Amino acid sequence: MLKGKTIVLGVSGGIAAYKAAAICSKLKQSGAEVYVIMTESATKFIAPLTFQTLSRHDVIVDTFDEKDASVVSHIDLADRADLFVVAPATANIIAKMAHGLADDMLSTTLLATTAPVLVAPAMNVHMYEHPAVIANMKLLGDRGVLFVEPGTGQLACGYVGKGRLEEPERIVEAIERYFAEKQLLHGKKVLVTAGGTVERIDPVRYLTNDSSGKMGFAIAEAARIMGADVTLVVGKASAYIPPGIRTVRVQSAEDMLDAVMERFGDTDIVIKAAAVADYRPAETATQKIKKKDEAMTIQLVKNKDILQTLGQHKTTQFIVGFAAETENIDEHALDKLQRKNCDLLVANDVSQEGAGFGYDTNIVRIYDGNGLVEALPIMTKQEVARRLLLQVAERIKKGD
Ligand code: PMT
Repeated sequence: MLKGKTIVLGVSGGIAAYKAAAICSKLKQSGAEVYVIMTESATKFIAPLTFQTLSRHDVIVDTFDEKDASVVSHIDLADRADLFVVAPATANIIAKMAHGLADDMLSTTLLATTAPVLVAPAMNVHMYEHPAVIANMKLLGDRGVLFVEPGTGQLACGYVGKGRLEEPERIVEAIERYFAEKQLLHGKKVLVTAGGTVERIDPVRYLTNDSSGKMGFAIAEAARIMGADVTLVVGKASAYIPPGIRTVRVQSAEDMLDAVMERFGDTDIVIKAAAVADYRPAETATQKIKKKDEAMTIQLVKNKDILQTLGQHKTTQFIVGFAAETENIDEHALDKLQRKNCDLLVANDVSQEGAGFGYDTNIVRIYDGNGLVEALPIMTKQEVARRLLLQVAERIKKGD
């Protein structure tokens, strides 16, 4: 499965560093070329010679220990990687990655690589739950870094809790899954809408909603990881837009309709995660509206439904709609799927804790023309995105 793949394995200084030897060995057995970079502290737990023997390559610890004069080793390794794995990742290396520090071979190479990065954290349970660590991991997650969450159990420090490096077999499975899914949407043009629309009342006031953009951004990032050519059409969003994705900024529902229709003919898959305003002010004042009467009325007119318009114009495109519901989820979702001519519809019950607007997690039910396909429990929006795209890829493959 990993034949021909180059994996750079970064080992940072925690007791779980010894488990990285098993990861290195299993990756080699799966056919990968493995290059190991260790931090100085990692060498206190396990000798570089172990990794050198298992990987059959020099292990680099010191940025200035250049063995081959024809290359700069941190750039060479950064460029060579098909995937960069950091296992175990301590709180320290996670913080350096999040904030762009480059003060040793591992952090410098991580900063120089454009390869996807997979991080397997391992640390004391209280460190893992520290707000600084959580914020750093979130920052990295928003940038598209993949995580293999630590397991729960007896920790080397004596505590019982979450923080134990996931077993090497599971980490290698995650790596194999990454490469297996990487090509699933290869060659497909995917258009994702995200965020909320802004409907102007006057130059300083507008109507909008609570969409942060997180769900749409996670889908765009997951589609990119699966090899798609992704375009993101974004309204108002508070979350971090994933770098390296073609992005079109819009304001109103009408702008979003234009941006989507302009690209629709040249698109294979459209995923409409944006929260589009159903109504807009009938008129937008060109000057700031002055305070006068005790009450004021703003007349609203209906926006064109973008998803429905796409459904009417679709030829070969695969269309995924979203539905933000608070009651009768199945009924409303299936009605929207049929009315808007979608191939799949993702419903989130936004009245539930952890689902919908603003959260890092979601709880969704996915439907096709025959009814419910998958009911997913609470999970990160990144994982929801991945599970949704697996459904899309499976259906597209059948249709090819
Ligand atoms: O951005 P986050 O904070 O991560 O939150 C994610 C989310 C809750 C916004 C997302 O998961 C979601 O549910 N998006 C759809 C929200 C919505 O507008 O639902 P709706 O049921 O009103 O609309 C149904 C579908 O029609 C949606 O795909 C919507 O994009 C589309 N629509 C709606 C109105 C309109 N004028 N044009 C449309 O295309």
